[in-house]
Amino acid sequence: MSELRLEELSAATIVAVNSLGLKPGQEQFITPVSYAAAAAVTPAHTAWQRVVLLDGRVVGFVHANFDPESTQEEFRAALWRINVDAESQGTGVGRFAVEALIEEARNRDVERLTVLWERGEEGPEGFFLRLGFEPIGETPYGEVIGAIAL
Ligand SMILES: CC(C)(COP(=O)(O)OP(=O)(O)OC[C@H]1O[C@@H](n2cnc3c(N)ncnc32)[C@H](O)[C@@H]1OP(=O)(O)O)[C@@H](O)C(=O)NCCC(=O)NCCS
Repeated sequence: MSELRLEELSAATIVAVNSLGLKPGQEQFITPVSYAAAAAVTPAHTAWQRVVLLDGRVVGFVHANFDPESTQEEFRAALWRINVDAESQGTGVGRFAVEALIEEARNRDVERLTVLWERGEEGPEGFFLRLGFEPIGETPYGEVIGAIAL
């Protein structure tokens, strides 16, 4: 039986995270413009970064931001980035990572978790909707703001 588990991002796993493969056409969805812009002004200590291991091998990465002081609601408790290695996509790794993040958010008494995504053929919209996120608005860049009540 294969085992999925979560581990803090570390010097030992960062290379594997950077080597995770994507399927053709997915590159453009990895970092919505709003996140790229916000990253420059977001303090490092608000990041929650975990790798997903399948039988000890890194197959996914999830990065969230918990910053209750943020002036923008969509950055206070936000799923910032998630990606699963091309070969492991569609096997429940992404769901496992998001469910772990939801548990973390609940432990922090967060009431609403948000995520931004871009619409498009190879994009993650179907995944986020399947997991229960609902579109609640749009950013100035046209990204969907999705949210899930906890
Ligand atoms: C989006 C992504 C993280 C999903 O991870 P994954 O491991 O393939 O997803 P899972 O296998 O856990 O799927 C969970 C559920 O969502 C569904 N799902 C996944 N992708 C879907 C899609 N594109 N459309 C509709 N449903 C989808 C699955 O069928 C599954 O449903 P089930 O649990 O009810 O059977 C992965 O495709 C990825 O890394 N994409 C490229 C990077 C990216 O776009 N990241 C988002 C940036 S914000």
